[in-house]
Amino acid sequence: MALRFDALWRNLRSGDGGDREALGVALGVAGGKIAWIGREAELPAFERSAEFVQHDAAGAWVTPGLVECHTHLVFGGSRADEFRRRLAGATYEEIARAGGGIVSTVAATRKASEDELFAAAAPRVRRLIAEGVTAVEIKSGYGLDTQTEAKMLRVARRLGRELPVTVYTTFLGAHALPPEYRGQPDEYIELVCTGMLPALAERGLVDAVDIFCENIAFSVAQSERIFQAAARLGLPVKMHAEQLSNIGGTQLAARYGALSTDHLEYAVEADVEAMHRAGTVAVLLPSAYYCLRETKRPPVELFRRHGVPMAIATDCNPGSSPVLSPLMTMNMACTLFGFTVEEALQAYMHNAALALGKADVHGTLEAGRDADFALWDIQSPAELVYWLGASPCRAVIRHGQIVHGSC
Ligand code: NIG
Ligand code: FE
Repeated sequence: MALRFDALWRNLRSGDGGDREALGVALGVAGGKIAWIGREAELPAFERSAEFVQHDAAGAWVTPGLVECHTHLVFGGSRADEFRRRLAGATYEEIARAGGGIVSTVAATRKASEDELFAAAAPRVRRLIAEGVTAVEIKSGYGLDTQTEAKMLRVARRLGRELPVTVYTTFLGAHALPPEYRGQPDEYIELVCTGMLPALAERGLVDAVDIFCENIAFSVAQSERIFQAAARLGLPVKMHAEQLSNIGGTQLAARYGALSTDHLEYAVEADVEAMHRAGTVAVLLPSAYYCLRETKRPPVELFRRHGVPMAIATDCNPGSSPVLSPLMTMNMACTLFGFTVEEALQAYMHNAALALGKADVHGTLEAGRDADFALWDIQSPAELVYWLGASPCRAVIRHGQIVHGSC
């Protein structure tokens, strides 16, 4: 049967800049999907649909749309004052223990209307799209009551409906202890497990469940109760683990088959082995490491040695990572964590999709998949990682439509 295209991009380049570099690549789109991709010289005969358009990419590099797999980008207020305090010497932990940090964003998020949260978050998402992102994960966790967590997750869903990006929502009710539960963390966990999570899942607002397992947040035992509640609902789990200390969250998460554990600066070899056995992805967040002036690097060499896939993300949030640049985050993964260029690119494409349990949908360019891709004005993929403060993104195409730039 002859192929029928709605659009055809010719004169693309693809590959990793090494031996697998390909010039003269063509990509045909039909019904929002990639209908054909390969060397232009091998392009088969095709029919043109009524709306057919042909684009000459003039040698632009094509990559899959970037997958931003860890953000907290729906929130009220700002924490610029906290930034000032940290510059003057206060630590993230001190601020959190003194009732600032996450809890101050909780107060601002509870106060904000749904429209206000949407209006503040939409430009953040647009910035990500402008750097090639076509799928983004958004966590709740600044509500810490059913009503506000639901509000955040509805805003996240609305971002996915009104902006040209696929949104995956993650329920992070166990992000911090809300002030009204001070001294009663187990009671709060009970509410998360038996009240909030089932109610939000029933409304279709939860794609995955996350926990901040840390000395300043929730213990391993408390985390386990949440994993059990998620399992009862058949929801996949993730965890903020070993960010500021090692308390054993990663091994628990691996036992529950977590899609990913995230941060991991303090992870040790036994954690990495457990992740390998469970197929858990290591999501590293170099901009949070940078913003917190952390000095302990995640064990990248161990992840490599044990074959644990590494993803990276901005961790966009108002406290530890007010960052909206995937490209700069890739640079940080290389400069601060010792990633290679190829690892940084994989980390934002296939491995990020794996961390969301969506590697069958995102992260590679293949016939039959959604036509989600980015075109870049670069001479080699290293330039994606090399430039700081300048985005060479020429265009972003989602479901076959140009949603940013032009080509
Ligand atoms: O991923 N680690 C916990 N949560 C966020 C920080 C959120 C905040 O400070 O508001 C993180 O770094
Ligand atoms: Fe985070």
